[in-house]
Amino acid sequence: MKSQYYSFGNTSSKMVLGKSTRMYLIIFIGTVLIYLLLHCVPTYLPSSDNNNTEPPPLYIITPTYRRPEQLAELTRLGQTLKHVKNLLWLVIEDAHEWHPLVNHILDRIGVPYVYLLAPMPEKYKIGYLPRGVSNRNRGLEYLRANATEGVFYFADDDNTYDISLFEEMRYIQKVGMWPVGLLTSTGVSSPILRNGKLDGYYDGWIGGRKYPVDMAGFAVSVKFLHERPHAKMPFKASFEETLFLESLEPLESSDIEYLAEECTDILVWHTQSVKNAPATPFNDTLHSDTNLKYLDMLLVRKSDL
Ligand code: UGA
Ligand code: MN
Repeated sequence: MKSQYYSFGNTSSKMVLGKSTRMYLIIFIGTVLIYLLLHCVPTYLPSSDNNNTEPPPLYIITPTYRRPEQLAELTRLGQTLKHVKNLLWLVIEDAHEWHPLVNHILDRIGVPYVYLLAPMPEKYKIGYLPRGVSNRNRGLEYLRANATEGVFYFADDDNTYDISLFEEMRYIQKVGMWPVGLLTSTGVSSPILRNGKLDGYYDGWIGGRKYPVDMAGFAVSVKFLHERPHAKMPFKASFEETLFLESLEPLESSDIEYLAEECTDILVWHTQSVKNAPATPFNDTLHSDTNLKYLDMLLVRKSDL
């Protein structure tokens, strides 16, 4: 029994030795693989294979900025995008620094994303702000450098999107348009179609714009963007959409596809959240040893704005 015990002991200690060498080897190879994955693999891009196994990639450009509602808006939009295949979410913040909480929320949502910064230049911070413009131009810059196929869409963080809209827009050849609900006095902004052909635009504010549409009411193919190397969004509040579309010209109305059942349905709504006041300061003395100190880190204070 004794010798057996020892012999068993010896065998097992050899096994342990063998096992631990293997374990070290696995840890070593694992570390090397993780290193290679983090440092050598190019930025994640949705797949654009031509074997029809994947639908064409979608690039969703979302401007965002720090305010009490920001994490709530990103959560809602992100949960919607989670239902959409082969998509890259370009979340672009109007800020000088990355915010760990935005990363935290994006990681938790789990939609493939790239988090970029694009602060609004100081000179435009007067009067009516050109909101989200530097963000969207940063998105275009990213696409010009990284994308070759598929479609991109400017999806503000506060709108409400039906997922079928994303499936429809994937196949746009040049430019696609569709109605957006909850806009201006007309309640909807939409191309007007007569016998399937464009016959103007319906919007409570035409304002002399050639393309009186909302940002949420159109998407563009990446290939078409590449054919228009100078296309970008101007810092001109309220004229961003029309001037961006004009920068894509030549653009015939026959180049435009009218989605959402030929503009008879509403798949995106221009919702707006109630503006919340920044949270009142946290009382360190009373609550620093409670859960509230963690919740405090998720809130936006006046001093953060
Ligand atoms: C409407 C249009 O839907 C916007 O696409 C357009 O940029 C805006 O008007 C405009 O003409 O200025 P609206 O709902 O009035 O949008 O604007 P917001 O939702 O407040 O802002 C549009 C986007 O820009 C949002 O995604 C928002 O997060 C972002 N934003 C807003 C910034 O990045 N920085 C800001 O200072 C404000
Ligand atoms: Mn909005």
